[in-house]
Amino acid sequence: MAQQIEKVGVLGAGLMGHGIAQVAAQAGYQVVVREVDEAALKRGIGRIEKQLARAVEKGKSTQEEADAVRGRIQGTIDYRDLADCDLVIEAITESLQAKLEMWKELNEIIKPEAVFATNTSSLAVIDQAAVSGRPSRFVGLHYFNPAQVMKLVEVVRCVTTSDEAFATAMEFARSEGKLAIPTKDKAGFIVNRLLVPYLLDAVRAYEEGVGSVGEIDEAMKAGAGHPMGPLTLADFVGLDTLGSICDVMFDEFRERRFARPPTLRKMLSAGWFGRKSGMGFYDYSGETPTENPGI
Ligand code: CAA
Repeated sequence: MAQQIEKVGVLGAGLMGHGIAQVAAQAGYQVVVREVDEAALKRGIGRIEKQLARAVEKGKSTQEEADAVRGRIQGTIDYRDLADCDLVIEAITESLQAKLEMWKELNEIIKPEAVFATNTSSLAVIDQAAVSGRPSRFVGLHYFNPAQVMKLVEVVRCVTTSDEAFATAMEFARSEGKLAIPTKDKAGFIVNRLLVPYLLDAVRAYEEGVGSVGEIDEAMKAGAGHPMGPLTLADFVGLDTLGSICDVMFDEFRERRFARPPTLRKMLSAGWFGRKSGMGFYDYSGETPTENPGI
């Protein structure tokens, strides 16, 4: 039996967190979104407001609906504002240490019956569940970027997850209009298990001179019907995030297909994190992206 969810806490208002918060508010939930400081919170809420305004401009929603969604979202920098949430979803940086410290602190504050969920892309859910103080009420809820648009949520059951918490998470994702697919707690789950080696192979294909950045992307769009080429998608996901995911997967499986290609490693050293930093396989400083001549 699924638990009743009315109020949802979202930790982090970055690339994923702001979208997760918006989707929950659009589904009618009260949402509290927490960031580390006022500036980060303002940026995250600003992103949501921009998306809501775009939907009104395009005639996809009315101003009243957009205002109602915005009205259901409360921003905070204080964990205590999440105390009475029924479900808390974390979308902070992909660092196990940071997540573990956060859950320990939150367990003291948030009501004991609440379900905790991680949006991790690759880390083992059990490692977080084990320190959360509520291992039976801990799940993975893995959204895809942009969370407002992508239909899938992977619902991850770890060895300690209770039937009730799992049913709650499945039901919650469905109530947001998402396709909820259950997956086991294996690094990368379903999508990243397949997507990450593909993105890394695109980098290797570039290194081997199979094609230019643009040629590889255009080929996969026109030849395989993908909405974005793999190097554009790597920039879109964030090269730092891709780097963290593949490190975790390499550690877990020890297979070359999950290893960082040298080009990715060098780009990260240069601070080229993809679209979010303005530079990746493409340079985003102009009106339209152009291939980065530095790689
Ligand atoms: N928020 C809300 N809506 C957005 C949006 C956002 N951030 N970005 C795009 N949209 C909406 C647009 O408003 C538009 O809506 P309408 O069709 O109703 O007008 C629609 O999405 C299409 O957008 P665009 O016309 O601007 O551009 P597009 O057709 O190129 O689509 C895209 C953009 C949806 C991002 C598409 O390129 C796409 O699907 N790309 C692949 C994305 C993908 O693979 N994501 C998964 C990454 S892996 C991951 O996230 C997991 C992980 O752990 C790493």
